[in-house]
Amino acid sequence: MKFVRFIMKNAALASVPRHIDHFSKFSPSPLSMKQFLDFGSTNACEKTSFVFLRQELPVRLSNIMKEINLLPDKLLTTPSVQTVQSWYIQSLMEILEFLDKNPDDYKVLGEFVDALVTIRNRHNDVVPTMAEGIIEYKEVFPQDPMTNQNIQYFLDRFYMSRISIRMLINQHTLIFDGTLNPVHPNTIGSIDPHCQVGDVVQDAFHSAKMLCEQYYLRSPDLILQEICVKEKKNYPISIEYVPSHLYHMLFELFKNAMRATIETHDDSNNLPPIQVMVSLGDEDMSIKVSDKGGGVPFRRIDNLFSYMYSTAPAPHIGERTRPPLAGFGYGLPISRLYAKYFQGDLQLYSMEGHGTDAVIYLKALSTDSIERLPVYNKTALKHYKVSQEADDWCIPSKEPLDLSIYKMPK
Ligand SMILES: Nc1ncnc2c1ncn2[C@@H]1O[C@H](COP(=O)(O)OP(=O)(O)OP(=O)(O)O)[C@@H](O)[C@H]1O
Ligand SMILES: [Mg+2]
Repeated sequence: MKFVRFIMKNAALASVPRHIDHFSKFSPSPLSMKQFLDFGSTNACEKTSFVFLRQELPVRLSNIMKEINLLPDKLLTTPSVQTVQSWYIQSLMEILEFLDKNPDDYKVLGEFVDALVTIRNRHNDVVPTMAEGIIEYKEVFPQDPMTNQNIQYFLDRFYMSRISIRMLINQHTLIFDGTLNPVHPNTIGSIDPHCQVGDVVQDAFHSAKMLCEQYYLRSPDLILQEICVKEKKNYPISIEYVPSHLYHMLFELFKNAMRATIETHDDSNNLPPIQVMVSLGDEDMSIKVSDKGGGVPFRRIDNLFSYMYSTAPAPHIGERTRPPLAGFGYGLPISRLYAKYFQGDLQLYSMEGHGTDAVIYLKALSTDSIERLPVYNKTALKHYKVSQEADDWCIPSKEPLDLSIYKMPK
């Protein structure tokens, strides 16, 4: 019996590349927040959702699995990346088993929810595991700007794909597991149609504050202001959004702002407060988090969003150890992906010597909040294939120019 199972598993494994080829030929279908909401309320139908997901999940998985295969060999073969890849293969195989099952059978629908929960749990540690792979790779191989750029391009797409897959899985499992969310009965899956932005700001601030006080024994205060165009009269400001995504972004920004504030004012009794401005317009809902934490040099801003830069190996003994409230260095890049996922963005404006403004831009209208999804195609492929070319801007020399060579002979 064991032997038969072994043969069957191997046969299924052997067919995986064929399935990946097949499903990666389809483009993922982005959903708007409005579609997520409509689907989860008025039109909630488990059977339709099942039929959609058993096609869409393999499409999203296969599109990104194609790109995993394009990573530099030396990164692809690290144990961590191999582990992540095996999770993707396993999950794809588990969903494919539902392709020929009957959507009218309640047992099948129940098994599908269970399978999705198993898959979600399996992928819980994808981000730290992938980050370990990057560190392993960086420790052994010298970095070149081209590889860094490719890995940045890949990880942004890979993590964005992961956010989107988890969103689909969460919506299906939360809506169709037959229970109401006891804490937030009005949410539709993970979406709150009346997400009060100020409340999420307060929640995220308090969590960061607790962490901050644990390490530094003090923390800055919060000043929160809400602004709204007159006609809207939408106070307190609310939007249709995924509160956990918003919380994630704000929590990361607050941790950064608090750490910068405390480390810059460590010899002062007064800490300047962190100021938050929430503004709702016709098109954008923007949140600005301002600190007076000394800022970052302009030259470094891009690096703060880099996975390769921030996952620098742990400092050697004797060097300053990594300060608390800072982990993998993925806070900013992942938060920016959450903002971009529904067509928003996250940008940092800093003034070295003074402080930093971090602005989250989200769409005010649920019809504009449409999933932003990577698709595997020729353009994507080209990104991994570009060869390194010489810079078309002069590199300034650090040495003073030796003018004597230009002297005319007398
Ligand atoms: N408001 C800020 N003021 C000054 N420096 C900042 C600010 N926000 C971010 N930085 C700098 O950017 C770096 C990267 O931030 P990011 O949140 O991505 O990673 P981290 O805080 O180091 O680790 P993690 O967020 O994963 O715990 C920080 O280490 C810090 O040097
Ligand atoms: Mg951080």
